[in-house]
Amino acid sequence: IMGDWGKCVDFGISIAIQARTVILDAFKTTKVVALKSSPADLVTETDQRVENLLISAIKEKYPTHKFIGEESVAAGVRPILTDSPTWIIDPIDGTTNFVHRFPFVAVSIAFVVNKQTEFGLVYSCMEDKLYRAQRGKGAFCNDVPLCTSGQEDITKALVVTEIGSERDDLSLRTLTSNIYRLLKIPVHGVRTMGTAAVDMCSVATAGADAYYHVGMHCWDIAASALIVSEAGGVVLDVTGDEFDLMSRRVIAASSHTVARRIAQVVEAFPCERDDGL
Ligand code: IPD
Repeated sequence: IMGDWGKCVDFGISIAIQARTVILDAFKTTKVVALKSSPADLVTETDQRVENLLISAIKEKYPTHKFIGEESVAAGVRPILTDSPTWIIDPIDGTTNFVHRFPFVAVSIAFVVNKQTEFGLVYSCMEDKLYRAQRGKGAFCNDVPLCTSGQEDITKALVVTEIGSERDDLSLRTLTSNIYRLLKIPVHGVRTMGTAAVDMCSVATAGADAYYHVGMHCWDIAASALIVSEAGGVVLDVTGDEFDLMSRRVIAASSHTVARRIAQVVEAFPCERDDGL
């Protein structure tokens, strides 16, 4: 039996709206920036404030629910996904954009039960676009239903990816040669918006035909993976195998054909799973 998580969706939307207000207020200010895993992995006080706001609001409403939050994990909490209802939160996806005032930043909230995502919300703050999907109930942007392009031909595809925050040689070589091989197919173009969540939603809207990424974390894409599949898209591991939320690898595409073609050319550099398993 499918749980009816409709009330949780409404609550999720209400706190995403509050989070956006905090992000908009802070957007134009000068930020104090700290580093995490690399000199290009940034965090600000607003990331932490927004995550605390979201988690404390959810705790008050649903005291038994669990959390995987980007900044809590950065602070040392281990991200283990159990079968319990779990909120997976990225308070600001696109922190580098946020620091530079490059206008793509999103709040990403996914709700997972029995390791299955029940709903996902991505609020692209500056664009004022609220993407949402509930399992089996379709995907929407500001209440308009979403449908992927259905594109089957990789040579006509616009592909989105992320440069990420890795700066070591192996990661950078793999990353740039992946882009090189895609351009050589040739695809129509490669784009990057600086937020994995919004990138993936662009596949759901048919603005792009595919997205792939190695190295992002579960909180970046948990919500948007459901949004893409509910919009009729395909979500896989970059190996071409089944998508694994904790593996830090993803392809989201308009069709199986395009997803598999991308899986043929994209190589993964090693990165530790989010759950450390
Ligand atoms: C990052 C963004 C970025 C991607 C990184 C992510 P954050 O998330 O999604 O686009 O390239 O891999 O970690 O740190 O801004 O939440």
